[in-house]
Amino acid sequence: MSRWSGRWPTDGIAFGADYNPEQWPEEVWAEDVALMREAGVTLVSVGIFSWGQLEPAQGVFDFGWLDRVLDLLHEAGIGVDLATPSAAPPVWLHLAHPEMLPVDADGTRFTHGSRESWCVSSPVIRHHATRIARVVAERYGHHPAVKMWHVSNELACHNGRCYCDVSAAAFRDWLGKEYADIDALNLAWGTAFWGQRYASFEQILPPRRTTTIPNPGQRLDFERFSSDAFVAHLEAEAAVLREVTPHLPVTTNYMVMGDFHQIDYTQTTPLVDIVSNDHYLRAEDPHGWAELAFSADRVRGLAGGDPWVLMEHSTSAVNWQPRNIAKEPGQMLRNSLQHVARGSDGVLFFQWRQSRAGAEKYHSGMVPHAGRDSSLFREVVELGATLGRLAEVRGSRVEQGRVALLWDTQAWWAAELEAHPTVDLRYLDVAQRMHRVLLDAGVAVDVLPAGSSLDGYDVVLVPTLYLAPPDLAGRLTDVVARGGEVLVSYFSGIVDEHDRVLLGGYPGAFRDLLGVRVEEFAPLAAGGTATLSDGSTGEVWTERMTSTGAEVLATYLDGPSAGGPAVTRRGARSGGGAWYLSTRLDDPSLADLLGRVLAAAGVSSLVPSPGGLEVVRRTGAGGSWLFALNHTGTDVPLHVSGHDLVADRRHEAGAVVPARGVVVVREG
Ligand code: GAL
Repeated sequence: MSRWSGRWPTDGIAFGADYNPEQWPEEVWAEDVALMREAGVTLVSVGIFSWGQLEPAQGVFDFGWLDRVLDLLHEAGIGVDLATPSAAPPVWLHLAHPEMLPVDADGTRFTHGSRESWCVSSPVIRHHATRIARVVAERYGHHPAVKMWHVSNELACHNGRCYCDVSAAAFRDWLGKEYADIDALNLAWGTAFWGQRYASFEQILPPRRTTTIPNPGQRLDFERFSSDAFVAHLEAEAAVLREVTPHLPVTTNYMVMGDFHQIDYTQTTPLVDIVSNDHYLRAEDPHGWAELAFSADRVRGLAGGDPWVLMEHSTSAVNWQPRNIAKEPGQMLRNSLQHVARGSDGVLFFQWRQSRAGAEKYHSGMVPHAGRDSSLFREVVELGATLGRLAEVRGSRVEQGRVALLWDTQAWWAAELEAHPTVDLRYLDVAQRMHRVLLDAGVAVDVLPAGSSLDGYDVVLVPTLYLAPPDLAGRLTDVVARGGEVLVSYFSGIVDEHDRVLLGGYPGAFRDLLGVRVEEFAPLAAGGTATLSDGSTGEVWTERMTSTGAEVLATYLDGPSAGGPAVTRRGARSGGGAWYLSTRLDDPSLADLLGRVLAAAGVSSLVPSPGGLEVVRRTGAGGSWLFALNHTGTDVPLHVSGHDLVADRRHEAGAVVPARGVVVVREG
């Protein structure tokens, strides 16, 4: 991993936004910079969608405006995270090369007029994106304002899959490298089924719309191919930037949130110097803060535990949800510090000044339509001051937890393919609910890509890892052998890397580890439940299984698997054990089970506190900082003492974290 060992782009925690001055007349820029100074802004992302302004016609450049913007920012001491503008190719390029627009699975070619509207396999975009990246790097790479490169924007998130003929040819090339010959591909994809056998690679197409269920091997490989194509695009742009400006770190903004999983970010982290992420709350989700914590932990896992940058979130409402609910007073600070608690050394927003026109004019910004004289801008200024006091936290790391929770994009792709036992199974469901239980219990957890080292973890949670890396069973066995506890949930370890079932009883990859053998999946009818002998309630899924060496902790009392084991644990001589959960426990039952797993490993909460108080510790050379975020409507005592950097006063052990408030205690 090429992790950045140079200077962080800012002195303290980076604070700022996407800054799109091209949307405004030049008179506004001076006020922008003055307000940025008032707010304590230290870093802005510039130029993300400005290709059309920079190069109004092919080879004709207008640099003047950007020269002036960078100079203005530099004079004000504000750093720039300068973007390569490939996210928004200019109209002239689209008109000259309509074949560059992506095509959906139905064969419809998109039209230009929005953004991120290109086929990643198009040699045209690759040529022009790297060309303009070089132009920008050569012109601005040594400008003193420029502190970091921002490659494109949210790669793959809006144009993640293209089914055009160019993509088809690229897919065939990719397959040619993956498989020794067409027979190997036929075997891997199981094309004997429905007579889908291919005689040559030339016959293969992307999984375009077809009459009924497409071939799952083809679907899975197309996911991999598409993700790899974006990885290659990132690599190509980053290579230009590194060649011209080896002194600058390179980042690209991920989209680790909600349901986005178009790209396998484990393939991109080696290509960036600093990991950054965009996160938007689902405003109507009452547990949005728990989803935020989960996403932030996933980002930290991708960053290998290093500090990362929250590149975008919103000061208040977004404009792309069904109901765009404004944030309540204080929520922007709480959301921001939650990301910092979980490892972000930056708090940036989309965007600086709320747009007057265009598709996102009802999306909040740091400077709202109402202008400087607004509660929102006053909160922005307060946030800037708070982050200023948190400067000493920069560079520290979230203390490693004793619990690891594994996830994997490939497993996600495969788990949600068509024609599975139930439509009610969602890949992230159990992972996210397990994370939530640990959050409520105040237990530190690291959310790791499934290929990560498990050293130092006493509990490893493996939720719904349908397609498990081949070496994982061995690594989990090692955890148990050294006395650790492993908990695997249903629909894990079911298939090989081509989505072919591992035979002999489920879960093929983990049968020996767990000491169980499942003969049949037995999902429940919509809304159905199953009662377990320990009083727990199962939902969605049950299994007909036998124990081949595990202790049965609970059996099914009713439902399609009645009489059989539901929860088991195979103990090892070390004292450790491998638990298996064959149903989707409801929330209280899941909390109870995880409580037992944690107790077996002797893992307790960071600071005893009731649910709703989120507690995270960051540690570094300069000390340790306890972040406590109160998501409840009542004051909650916190039994830790030190200096609270938010209120800038001493926090005595037992003093409260105010309702919906935050304290960040420098301990000691
Ligand atoms: C992000 C995107 C930004 C802006 C924002 C609005 O996905 O990168 O450019 O559109 O969403 O929430």
